[in-house]
Amino acid sequence: MKAAHAAREHAYAPYSRIRVGASVLMRDQSGRDGPLCAGCNVENASFGATMCAERSAIFSAVAAGGQIIRMLALTLDTGEEEEALSRRSPCGLCRQVISEFANDATAIVIDAGSRNAIEFTGEVMGIADLLPWGFCLPPE
Ligand code: THU
Repeated sequence: MKAAHAAREHAYAPYSRIRVGASVLMRDQSGRDGPLCAGCNVENASFGATMCAERSAIFSAVAAGGQIIRMLALTLDTGEEEEALSRRSPCGLCRQVISEFANDATAIVIDAGSRNAIEFTGEVMGIADLLPWGFCLPPE
């Protein structure tokens, strides 16, 4: 969560003003933990070209050899004091991307406005909570 907060500082969000940070720890093919990878949202004047923090973090962890998400931390700063879970949790596209690399042990940690990343308040969920009946292809 500390790494997610740090990445959030670099969010490029001039259009929505919603700053998002994520960090992810993935396991590689041999079950070893990879590096802690962070991401932030990067918006674009052509809105559809915007990239979310979660996907940014996951894609760089995959580039570092990650295959299974052990833990993903997410923090949003909307400027409000308190936000409902639906305003702090991953968008549908990110849920689908998380599900591609998640298993039953994957922990998705959602910040509820912790002031300093040390004293955590928020939720911890699994992918089945976030994306029941997510799309997948039949096994090869
Ligand atoms: N955003 C994320 O980074 N992750 C999400 O899961 C939800 C949305 C960003 C994208 C955009 O820059 C801003 O939040 C408002 O949609």
